[in-house]
Amino acid sequence: MAAACSISNVGNGITTAATTKRVPIPPRGVDYRGKVVLAPMVRSGELPARLLALHYGADLVWGPETVDRSMIGTTRRVNPHTKMVEFFRMPSNSNLQHNVRAGCEPVESIIYRLDPIREAGRLIFQIGTSDPDLAVQAARIIAPDVAGIDVNAGCPKPFSTHDGMGAALLKTPDKLTAILEALVREIPPNFGIGVSVKIRLLETAAETEALVRRLVATGITGLTVHCRTTPMRPRERAIRGQLRMVADVCREAGVACVMNGDVEGRDHALELMPEFGVDGAMIATCAEKNSSCFRREEDGGMAPWQEAVAKYVRFAMEVRNKIGNTKYTLTMMVPGKAAEYKALAPKKSYTGVVEALGLSDDEEMRKMARETDEMLRIGEFKPPPPVKPPKVAKNAQQNQQKKARSPSPLRVGGNAGNKKRKAPPSPGPTTTVIREMVTTDGVLVVKASPQAVAETI
Ligand SMILES: Cc1cc2nc3c(=O)[nH]c(=O)nc-3n(C[C@H](O)[C@H](O)[C@H](O)COP(=O)(O)O)c2cc1C
Repeated sequence: MAAACSISNVGNGITTAATTKRVPIPPRGVDYRGKVVLAPMVRSGELPARLLALHYGADLVWGPETVDRSMIGTTRRVNPHTKMVEFFRMPSNSNLQHNVRAGCEPVESIIYRLDPIREAGRLIFQIGTSDPDLAVQAARIIAPDVAGIDVNAGCPKPFSTHDGMGAALLKTPDKLTAILEALVREIPPNFGIGVSVKIRLLETAAETEALVRRLVATGITGLTVHCRTTPMRPRERAIRGQLRMVADVCREAGVACVMNGDVEGRDHALELMPEFGVDGAMIATCAEKNSSCFRREEDGGMAPWQEAVAKYVRFAMEVRNKIGNTKYTLTMMVPGKAAEYKALAPKKSYTGVVEALGLSDDEEMRKMARETDEMLRIGEFKPPPPVKPPKVAKNAQQNQQKKARSPSPLRVGGNAGNKKRKAPPSPGPTTTVIREMVTTDGVLVVKASPQAVAETI
């Protein structure tokens, strides 16, 4: 444990030199002290949203919780077009077989994507885990590309807690400390970055204090406390009654303490940090809506949503973000009452999104949108789905084959098990008409049914 010398004013004008403990920050790691940061957010914290937050002045950005098992087995590559680092995997065996049967090309899944330049030294990877070995395996894969590893011990959603991850770890402190200790043993010495944890409050201050005391003794460099208890809903106001105590326990152990919960922007954070004696502040929902909240009033303050949205779409196209995620994030940023919100709903391509947002007058945007659509094979570049052998035609054929076989008296009107069975309905006309329709969004629909015969003839 390193000691740092700090000068503090004790309040009566006398300045004293006090020795404060500090867990050393590894050479490639970051100190959370003095930072206002973007919170980890599944779906809302993908790469373009993080780039937007950095653009508006976030000091650090957390990536969305990524489960250890989904990271393990991924392959790293630098995308030759975008220069982004991508960790991807091919579809599972059953999905692969399904795609092959359907005549589709196998589509890889990108599990994690980051910008090696703009996020350098500022990206914290948040891991979802309930197992020390898996946590270490996953962290080793991503560690060379990020500035820190954070363990999620606060997410109350079933996708996180079902396997003992997220907020479930607050109830299993032995497991949580074992995970942090394993990461601290492996990651800082081998990769030069620190390990941190994000927790929620427990029901009583005494319970929270006991947990925090254990966590700060594991060798972590930072602890974020989301000032809500696990059962609290996001709409309920954050409670800050335990915050000063948590900050004091962290300071005593030399661990940076970051507050989270209802922090509205950088100026607000800079007021709250000294009020509660915390080292940093983390923002989620306000940044999800408009991350220009990271900009100080004196530097321009909040940008109009239209400006933030235009910047976001540009970042999304630059990194080839999935159109579904881009649309989801935009629905958080565009006010529900704006005409653009409604216009976005049916769009399935970047060209459509740019049009819905009224950005088509910008020729560069239009061009970027078209190029992105082409690379992602969406919108006008979406290939028609392979024509599958029509199921109904196959059924009709099978029915015919069945009929051709001599019918068993037990099957047709027989008396098997004293149950009266109806004779099977006539298979009807044997000709099957296959109809192809191209829907408004370019999807080729293949329909085949005996009824179609009646309709068509
Ligand atoms: C869409 C969304 C996704 C979230 N995903 C995560 C996550 O992956 N990991 C995590 O620790 N917390 C997650 N959270 C919780 C936030 O990081 C944060 O703790 C919470 O929203 C409180 O901050 P706020 O009051 O500024 O919104 C998520 C929150 C939102 C709104």
